[in-house]
Amino acid sequence: MLDELRALQTEALEALEAIGDTEGLEPWRVRYLGRRGELTTLLRSVGGLRREERPLAGRAGNEVKATLERAYQEKATALEQAEREATLEAQRVDVSLPGRRPQIGSLHITTQILRQICDIFAQMGFQVYDAPDVETDEMNFGLLNMPPYHPARDLWDTFWVNDQASSRGSARGVLLRTHTSPGQIRVMRERCPEPIRVILPGKCYRYEHVTARSEHQFYQVEGLAVGRNITMADLKGTMLNFAQMFYGPDQEVRLRGSYFPFTEPSVEFDGRCILCHGEGCRVCRYSGWLELAGAGMVHPVVLENGGYDPAIYSGFAFGFGVERPAMLKYDIDDIRYFYANDMRFLRQF
Ligand code: FA5
Repeated sequence: MLDELRALQTEALEALEAIGDTEGLEPWRVRYLGRRGELTTLLRSVGGLRREERPLAGRAGNEVKATLERAYQEKATALEQAEREATLEAQRVDVSLPGRRPQIGSLHITTQILRQICDIFAQMGFQVYDAPDVETDEMNFGLLNMPPYHPARDLWDTFWVNDQASSRGSARGVLLRTHTSPGQIRVMRERCPEPIRVILPGKCYRYEHVTARSEHQFYQVEGLAVGRNITMADLKGTMLNFAQMFYGPDQEVRLRGSYFPFTEPSVEFDGRCILCHGEGCRVCRYSGWLELAGAGMVHPVVLENGGYDPAIYSGFAFGFGVERPAMLKYDIDDIRYFYANDMRFLRQF
């Protein structure tokens, strides 16, 4: 019996020694110290020994039990401690590491250019006026001297909002504005008879084929000045000042005769090509000049529609795109990049 107890103790201690994690402890405890475990079974057989052998065997059995229980406790404490330390080590935070920089968004290139343009005109005393994107046919065309069936309407392919073909081309038609010019009528009607100096930035929509130079949605900035004795010289000075503040102090501009139904006379403003400096390149189609804006003196009919007497008041107006000047400034060769949401493009600005 004593030999069996000794052998069991040795075997149990070796098995305990080999356990590597706390999960292995419970099966060991059940096997050796459990109610049906090997030691318990052995101790039960003490009753079957001869009487004089029983005290010795009982004492030896209790010692083995105490030894195994103590070894079990020590092992459990050691394993728990080791596992706690391993967990802490795995979760260790190095407070001296540099922090992760959060990703910060930035303004879209169109917004940046729009703000630059508004700032430049603000310095010249122009206020910013907001006009709606959804307009009536009357505002977008009729009151701008293009009555229904006027051939000049074909200059602007239109997205209609109300689907009744019968209302298209009549005052009842509702559309997405094809240019920012209808805002001229709204400002004049609101401010008449005060003098006006405003710009109207905003989105325009045209039912157009999308190409490298043309989008079906794009931004324009409209300008309008109305007062007494306003002349073409004021328009030219304003455009020259803007071009030099936007593109640089050496920028030259030129006027070219043109046609818009709502201005008379009408002109097109060109700037000296900033890519080839006037020498001629692919972008300026070898002319040395690039179109900047449509402009002119506000047509007497439009002044009247806005409430101003053309015998007393005169005014100039201009309208230019936002994406095309940005393309020139940053040498971007395709307008479709602006709204394709490709972060590789947008992050550059
Ligand atoms: C107009 O829209 C006139 N309302 C401008 C005007 C205002 C003339 C006041 C006189 C007085 P136009 O269609 O040329 O004109 O457009 C003006 C500018 O908008 C162009 O020079 C160009 O920069 C921009 N633009 C026109 N169509 C597109 C397009 N599809 N994609 C991007 N930009 C465009």
